Amino acid sequence: MSKVTVVGAGNVGATCANVLAHKDVVKEVVLLDIKGDFARGKALDTWEQAPIDYYSTKTIGTDDYAETANSDIVVITAGIPRKPGMSRDDLISTNAKIVTSVTESILKYSPNPIIIVVSNPLDVMTFAAYKAAGLDASRVFGMAGILDTARYRAFLAEALDVSPKDIQAILMGGHGDTMVPLPRYTTVSGIPVTEMIDDEKLTAIVNRTKKGGGELVQLMGTSAWYAPGAAAAQMVETIVRDENRIFPVCAYVDGQYGLNDMFIGVPVKLNKNGIGEILELQLNKDEMALLNQSAEHVRAVMDVFNGMSLA
Ligand code: NAI
Ligand code: 2OP
Repeated sequence: MSKVTVVGAGNVGATCANVLAHKDVVKEVVLLDIKGDFARGKALDTWEQAPIDYYSTKTIGTDDYAETANSDIVVITAGIPRKPGMSRDDLISTNAKIVTSVTESILKYSPNPIIIVVSNPLDVMTFAAYKAAGLDASRVFGMAGILDTARYRAFLAEALDVSPKDIQAILMGGHGDTMVPLPRYTTVSGIPVTEMIDDEKLTAIVNRTKKGGGELVQLMGTSAWYAPGAAAAQMVETIVRDENRIFPVCAYVDGQYGLNDMFIGVPVKLNKNGIGEILELQLNKDEMALLNQSAEHVRAVMDVFNGMSLA
């Protein structure tokens, strides 16, 4: 049974730890935050839920990295979320320093963890963790695609009046308004979605998905946490269960899709080693153009990161 650390006990981190505990697939979840008592409180509250919801996963809150020692998987949610009017990219100067220092502290106590980054701007924060960790790229990746496809699938389920369980989809690109939902690879219980919905409605859903994060920021004054926390927990579960499930994940590309030396959303197989394989879809010209446009956007944010002092 595994030990998982979630760094950042805020909205997303605490939700991730709570959902993970409910899955009852890991022995221990350590919730670490600079606000130690806050983390201790969230962890205790989740532990007190165990007799009601029947799980054995122990949840521990702390501000001391020594308690994270020998973690198999680490989820990094530490950092600031966006407020109305901000883009994910506006968070870079604060969050790059946080993600870098968190990763360095984790590595002092856990020599070879799998790291799942959630902090925004996601693609570049995953790159920051990868640089700071010095681990193989198969062990450092980011959560965004599961959330973005979940939004896309939820909107489709509503429009088609079907269960969200039956919508399968893949989505690529950066975690931002340039993300690339792929209707050609979307099915409803195996039926191509294009046979069930007209172009105009589908385009409206694709556009709503791209701005799905912003829609929630407008409604709540801060960014979402239930679906993001659950998405990160789902990644942990598939790794722990060694399932080889296929998910859109922010992964290091080394020539796939003609992209190099960056992190971006691609379909991968996830298993106990992290990323088992990046799947290369036969994208058509239009899809490839959208992916390249998204990659250009991620590169522009990476340039900001590369020019920054992390001191
Ligand atoms: P939050 O403000 O509720 O929680 C962040 C927590 O990080 C706070 O409790 C804070 O004390 C902690 N923290 C700050 N610096 C720290 C450090 N150096 N070490 C340990 N803990 C530290 O924010 P929320 O809503 O949980 O969002 C967290 C991050 O996740 C944000 O950057 C947000 O943009 C991002 N996010 C990413 C998503 C994705 O799809 N990748 C989806 C939703 C949010
Ligand atoms: C989201 O998509 C803000 O990245 C966060 O909800």
